[in-house]
Amino acid sequence: MRDAPIGILDSGVGGLTVARSIIDQLPQESIYYIGDTEHGPYGPRPLAEVREYALAIMDHLVAFGVKAIVIACNTASAAVLHDARERYQIPVIEVVRPAVRRAVSVTKNGKVGVIGTAATIKSGAYPDAFAAAPNIEVITKACPMFVEFVERGETTGEEVIQIAHEYLDDLVERGIDTLVLGCTHYPLLTAVISYVVGPKISLVSSAEETAQDLFQALLEKNLLRPSGSTPPIHVFAATKNAAQFQELAKRFLGPVVQSATQVSI
Ligand code: DGL
Repeated sequence: MRDAPIGILDSGVGGLTVARSIIDQLPQESIYYIGDTEHGPYGPRPLAEVREYALAIMDHLVAFGVKAIVIACNTASAAVLHDARERYQIPVIEVVRPAVRRAVSVTKNGKVGVIGTAATIKSGAYPDAFAAAPNIEVITKACPMFVEFVERGETTGEEVIQIAHEYLDDLVERGIDTLVLGCTHYPLLTAVISYVVGPKISLVSSAEETAQDLFQALLEKNLLRPSGSTPPIHVFAATKNAAQFQELAKRFLGPVVQSATQVSI
């Protein structure tokens, strides 16, 4: 079991930002990543649908034999977290709470902006997760078009800067000092987002903290692959348009992506 890969899922390439941190922090671990490009983006869909798609992918990962699951997608985390923890025997890690934890430790004025997909923002998952932290004002905003830009590989340029102003200027005016990138696609737009909000606002994403949660869960269950094992094997797959997914994944993650296969679920 310790040699088994870690299953990671997202609606597309966004979860690669989490995979990046997992590969950096747990370099001996193998990963099996699935981008559900057949049904992505998840953001515009009702949560019940997202739940169905994400559970199907997780069932596939468990049947494949992964030793832990990382839901590298805020929308899917909001939709399935409680079910997933009851449904599977292996550790299931999500991305909402790690981002909240980081934001709480970063903010100085207690005003935190959260941006995410329409489904994530509508679910209320972030204000719920912040509820335990006293004296934090949370201002949420859906940024539905960001994911489409990233999935097209368009991460800079005039058009995305203009959209970013439309989404973010209001949050800046309201005095936030911390902005949670509540969608795993958004760190791929960091250059644009930080340019638009300016240097005084700290950007927080869940990738690093999520990798830490994963490390802890594997450690507690004695599931860590010993360092000094044979080199890890990483598998990347997409449920549709694997060639396009592969091209973007290589661009975002570099040479760890050798190829991406198509998987039907
Ligand atoms: N990357 C995902 C998230 O964190 C999903 C984006 C989408 O599919 O709309 O929410």
